[in-house]
Amino acid sequence: MLTSNGLASASPGSDALLPLDPGHAVLDAFPDAVFVVGLDGRLAHCNRQARSLLDHSGDALEGSVFEERFVAQAARSGWASRQWEPPAQAAQPRQSSCWPLLTCSGRERPVASSTSRIRLPDGSPALLLCVREADAHPPAAPPSAPPAAPPPLSSPLSSAERSFALLVQSVTDYAIYMLDPEGRIVSWNLGAKRIKGYEEEEVLNTHFSRFYTPEDQQAGLPQAGLRTAVSTGRMEAEGLRVRKDGSRFWASVVIDAIYDDGRLIGFAKVTRDVTERKAAESQLRQALKMEAIGRFTGGVAHDFNNLLMAVLSSLELLRKRMPPDERLRALVETATRGAQRGASLTQRMMAFARQQELKTEAVDVAVLLSGLQGLLQQAAGPHIFLKMALAANLPRILTDPSQFESSMLNLVANSRDAMPGGGVIKIAAAVETMLPRQLAGLAAGSYVCVRVEDTGEGMDEQTLSRVVEPFFTTKGVGKGTGLGLAMVDGLVAQSGGKLVLHSTPGNGTTVEMWMPISKDESTACHLGAQRTQDVGPMDVLLVDDDPLVLANASALLEDLGHRVTALGAGQEAIDLLARQARFDVVISDYAMPGMNGVELAEHIAQRYPGLNFILASGFADIPALPPGMTRLAKPYSQEDLSQLLHQLVRA
Ligand SMILES: Nc1ncnc2c1ncn2[C@@H]1O[C@H](COP(=O)(O)OP(=O)(O)OP(=O)(O)O)[C@@H](O)[C@H]1O
Ligand SMILES: [Mg+2]
Repeated sequence: MLTSNGLASASPGSDALLPLDPGHAVLDAFPDAVFVVGLDGRLAHCNRQARSLLDHSGDALEGSVFEERFVAQAARSGWASRQWEPPAQAAQPRQSSCWPLLTCSGRERPVASSTSRIRLPDGSPALLLCVREADAHPPAAPPSAPPAAPPPLSSPLSSAERSFALLVQSVTDYAIYMLDPEGRIVSWNLGAKRIKGYEEEEVLNTHFSRFYTPEDQQAGLPQAGLRTAVSTGRMEAEGLRVRKDGSRFWASVVIDAIYDDGRLIGFAKVTRDVTERKAAESQLRQALKMEAIGRFTGGVAHDFNNLLMAVLSSLELLRKRMPPDERLRALVETATRGAQRGASLTQRMMAFARQQELKTEAVDVAVLLSGLQGLLQQAAGPHIFLKMALAANLPRILTDPSQFESSMLNLVANSRDAMPGGGVIKIAAAVETMLPRQLAGLAAGSYVCVRVEDTGEGMDEQTLSRVVEPFFTTKGVGKGTGLGLAMVDGLVAQSGGKLVLHSTPGNGTTVEMWMPISKDESTACHLGAQRTQDVGPMDVLLVDDDPLVLANASALLEDLGHRVTALGAGQEAIDLLARQARFDVVISDYAMPGMNGVELAEHIAQRYPGLNFILASGFADIPALPPGMTRLAKPYSQEDLSQLLHQLVRA
């Protein structure tokens, strides 16, 4: 017995329940296989996806005893009655993780299912099985019993719409709703509320074009979608849609035209939020594109590098053997400079292609950056204030130090170019933790994060997404090569780290280099900590007539955990020692007005034997120090200082 507009009603015992519009269309629009099984255990209805899962063609399936026909022997006994048992969690569909579905061709297909109890239009209870192949994702929250209490058995459902609502209203992974022939919304399910953010009463009777972007509305996309559904029966598309809060998401949309007795009565619309899948696809596309560009760039760069090496070495020989003619020399100089520039370009290209030969070692970033500060400030120019904030006791990172230096220069040059009117560049380095899955392509764990932050013009999203592409530049022909960030990205990746950029127009740019900590850093780190612990904290008397050196050395020592008393002259040191001789070590400059460092050393050797003394000097030619006293060549690094203090204590 068929009714004109819904799941057909059937007298008890009838072995055929057939679906008609509009339920048919709604269920077919559902992405999983759906089976409706009556209390008698017979299949009342199944959708298109179910027939395809069963490899079905030919005879009618409806009316078959489900367990006998579609459940493989091994899983049979009591299968059907188990499906009627209440689910583990009330108001949730009953989940069955894996059972063998017997297809029409006799094949066993492992499937996962979720089962909900529903009522048919005649009021009789039935099971709604939502089935998906077991190796695919688990079936999305299927059409299931509504969270509100189902209608009492004694009140049969009055209309087909009511039964569809029952089927779809509690689905949360899909927005499933009906439109009237003009496109006005006539029903709304939980999934629609979740995905689009609107309550039912906010959208009922309004036109569904409200979910489209203004651009798509103007282009007439919503109406075109309905026209396609009418002319072909179904419209399938993907596109951007707008949530209530104005945010956009990528939607996969199916619109089915619903007919009753040949008359169009509306549309069934199923929308899925596929933003995540879309993002993953676009990331993959970008990665493939970069890989292809990388291979190409690397190949070209490699060949050019060899050619340029030949050109350069020939020019070198030419210069040596050529007659002393100034005009010829000038030509050779120009050719050499040109070839050198070409060689440095190919180096950057190879860096991007991750094909450069890195001389990787454990690098102390703090020392490297402090040593580079002057050069970076010079590169930034006088209108830019360069600040450094380096955390104490930074572990060493694994990279090529000279490539890392050129990366820093590239980043500072970029910041400078983004601040034509001047500004601030802040360079910071600290140990930071990357959480699992926080950043694609970088394992969780501790890294040294080196940040270069500027107060420049920043970038829009479009620019930001392309900056590491080689040859991408906004600086105009002849001004930028577009290889700077490509090179930095290549180096960081080749070192095992990750480059991250943050930027918004007008709000400056922050570039982060997440650098892996050197493998033996657990030991080095330990050593570092131990070293400071072994030797400190020490009371250090620091003597130097140059206030800049004094301030810098104090900072290095304090950073190592020592207490520093800084004085500007030898005599001041002698006076202080006379009052308070409780220092562990005196570190003094050599060339100072009044009393030089060696004279101070002699005084100390006489009056305070046993007091450690270090003479720090850039001069090679200075008088001998008293026995047992140490020299330290200027300029020195924090590591040099630390090691020397360590030796002193152990001696
Ligand atoms: N700190 C920054 N602020 C604003 N825009 C930046 C910044 N760094 C990079 N960019 C943008 O990224 C583009 C690419 O930078 P990249 O360093 O790769 O090449 P370039 O600076 O243009 O050329 P080159 O490095 O050879 O001088 C720049 O042209 C600029 O548009
Ligand atoms: Mg650059």
